[in-house]
Amino acid sequence: MTAPAALCVLVTRRLSIDPLPFLRARLGEGCAVELHDSESPIPRADLLARAASADAIVATLSDRIDEELLNRAPRLRVVANHAVGVDNIDLRACVARGVRATNTPDVLTDATADLAFALLLAVARRLREGERMIREGRFTGWAPTMLLGLELRGALLGIFGFGRIGQAMARRALGFGMRVAWSRREGTSAAGPRIPADLQTKVSELSFDEMLAQADAISLHAPLDASTRHAFSAAQLARMKRGALLINTARGPLVDEAALAAALAAGQLGGAGLDVFEHEPKVHPALLSRDDVVLVPHLGSATVAARRAMAETAMAEAARVLLGQEPLHPVSPADR
Ligand code: DGY
Repeated sequence: MTAPAALCVLVTRRLSIDPLPFLRARLGEGCAVELHDSESPIPRADLLARAASADAIVATLSDRIDEELLNRAPRLRVVANHAVGVDNIDLRACVARGVRATNTPDVLTDATADLAFALLLAVARRLREGERMIREGRFTGWAPTMLLGLELRGALLGIFGFGRIGQAMARRALGFGMRVAWSRREGTSAAGPRIPADLQTKVSELSFDEMLAQADAISLHAPLDASTRHAFSAAQLARMKRGALLINTARGPLVDEAALAAALAAGQLGGAGLDVFEHEPKVHPALLSRDDVVLVPHLGSATVAARRAMAETAMAEAARVLLGQEPLHPVSPADR
């Protein structure tokens, strides 16, 4: 199949691979690639202006693809998100205009679960406090009662959002001898996830309340939508087991960050490991000074292999739609 002439693909951020040869190999030498060649997000005004002539946008999680943008992009046929999360895209508005939306599942599952487990270990074993103690010259020798943490073997990990990444987290936790339970969101009647055969006898489902009350640590892996926004706010944090740990590598707004800071200050929670933030890239100031909180800057999928595969997947999806083929990873409002 040959592509129509003068296609234009807008790539909103510098990626792990050069988009020009990748896209031209698929869409022909006539294809124009508009690249915002920067580590920083494309300014909104620029995004709106450049969307006007785009047939496809390869977007990142910080680009809001909403009615305003879609109204200004009459040629647009596909938004290929360079992410598995699609909360930056108004999927209903895309459907209404016949614009396809795609994401990059699978290729970042292990990288993200690795980071979530790294945060769990770091918080459970108080690595930040220990690191700081050494760097500040306060380590004067081994002591039987110094910086005691949570033993993972036998502890119960609650997983909120039991899709691919939640399941990969479960496998890691089982490997460390943890007990694992997953839960749907509070009050949902939605069908549960399909549990892969290797996990079926090893993990159990708990109600949301049971998970809050029983888990020694809870790791968040749910997508952000209206039903999961602030799933963990003051009321839910207060129902968690006292001293439990909270790990979030999903999306910041799943957690009310001010409520989290208050729960930590009150000793209700024992620590938190955060890769994502409610008002990213801002972090609640009360979290910045806490030794029981490990903070990393949205690094879940940040491995060389995952980021390369994400770039390839997103651009290949854009090319497929422009060539009139079905995308391999379409997302629609019904998936949410
Ligand atoms: C995603 O893919 O949704 C991550 O948050 C970015 O890697």
